[in-house]
Amino acid sequence: MSSLVVIGAQWGDEGKGKLVDYLTTNADVVVRFQGGNNAGHTLVVDGVTTKLHLVPSGILHEGTRCFIAAGVVLNPDVFAQELDGLEKAGINITPERIIIDRDTHLITPYHVALDEARERSRGADKIGTTGRGIGPAYEDRANRTGIRMAELLNMEELEQKILKNVEEKNRYLTGALGATEEVSADEVISFLKRAADRLIPHIGNVSLLIEQARKLEKRIIFEGAQGTLLDQMHGTLPYVTSSHTLSGAVFTGCGIGPRSLDSVLGVAKAYCTRVGEGPFPTELHDDTGEQLRTKGGEIGTTTGRPRRCGWFDAVAMKRAVRLNGFDSLAITKLDVLSGLEQIKVCINYRLDGSKVEDVPSLSSELAKVEPEYITFDGWEDDLTGIRKWHHLPAEARFYLATLAEIVACPISLVSVGPERSSTIFSSTASFVSNFMG
Ligand code: GDP
Ligand code: IMO
Ligand code: MG
Repeated sequence: MSSLVVIGAQWGDEGKGKLVDYLTTNADVVVRFQGGNNAGHTLVVDGVTTKLHLVPSGILHEGTRCFIAAGVVLNPDVFAQELDGLEKAGINITPERIIIDRDTHLITPYHVALDEARERSRGADKIGTTGRGIGPAYEDRANRTGIRMAELLNMEELEQKILKNVEEKNRYLTGALGATEEVSADEVISFLKRAADRLIPHIGNVSLLIEQARKLEKRIIFEGAQGTLLDQMHGTLPYVTSSHTLSGAVFTGCGIGPRSLDSVLGVAKAYCTRVGEGPFPTELHDDTGEQLRTKGGEIGTTTGRPRRCGWFDAVAMKRAVRLNGFDSLAITKLDVLSGLEQIKVCINYRLDGSKVEDVPSLSSELAKVEPEYITFDGWEDDLTGIRKWHHLPAEARFYLATLAEIVACPISLVSVGPERSSTIFSSTASFVSNFMG
């Protein structure tokens, strides 16, 4: 077992970062392949918290190389700040260790301005984006006006391109979107010069490096950001992000073939959360929802927004298993359910009285579905100190076994706390344990 992709199975924030950090104990390379600094990952090791947005979550393991592949959209200022923070914490951030693909697209100040102005102009119909310029940067990649890392190597040519881009963006910003302020081309150029000064040493060819690492039988983790239901094509449109968040995105995101992947791990909370707008069938608007939010510390790492909380949605999870081809699931935050008298899981949606086969395509329909639940007995025990599957309370083991059966996917790992060490292997599923050696 030499390569594993870790994918969010819900609406993001499932605890992917924690698990990637844990699994990196036994990995040589960790690769981010999509998204940008809309992502926020919290790692806790021996009581020390590290928050990451762009740097892969394997960074805390000395000797592991961290790659940003072409499918990412990278804000160079945010990346540089993150590197500074890591360096202050004594972490090696040399260009040998941290490599950004030459084809990775950059987020510039005009992408951020466009994201903000478009959200404002949408009013009540806003998506609730993170405001980090992610959508506009991916739009530019598709319309062929985007700026790639390699272009930093020729500032003269890049300056001409920026002048054209800024002129066009300003017309759109102040015209169609009603923004009151224009973006300054000079500011964008100095932003990119700063990026060139700092990041040119980190430019590399990640596709080639992954191929070389595979030939040397290195262990590689591909780290997904966001989650399945936020996929730009298969998620809950229009309330989604602007990249593909599914396992398939690894191949185009890195520039590697489908046989480069040995296993697909889905990460899901033992309940469900969502941040931003959009339908959420199992959302709880009562004290139980508040309890999950408080106990689970459900505040966004990137934007500080409170996360909406609800029950585990097995209808959506079956879809996630299919869209990603999960070999197994990691269930996180099981400890947060302790103390609830009853725990519910949605097993069917009804729309206008009839059972629906899959998550509806239209958000207006998803907003109307009535979830059907099964109810489990809860447990009182604090799970955070448990390290063995058979030490989990019988009710918790029954909950996990039933989830796995309903969604037809084995559970290979369970997380019972934010600490790296608060992680339990299942006694049955073995391929993730193989990866861990
Ligand atoms: P990511 O975006 O998928 O990496 O997830 P985030 O880091 O944004 O959000 C997950 C939050 O839950 C973080 O604050 C983690 O420290 C925390 N966390 C992860 N796993 C567990 C767990 O098993 N139990 C608890 N209580 N917290 C966890
Ligand atoms: P991680 O990697 C949770 C959500 C935003 C918004 C929608 C579109 O930490 O799991 P965008 O800025 O991407 O255009 O916003 O997607 N979103 C996330 N929600 N976790 C994330 O990342 C997210 N990244 C984007 O809240 O609803
Ligand atoms: Mg997050």
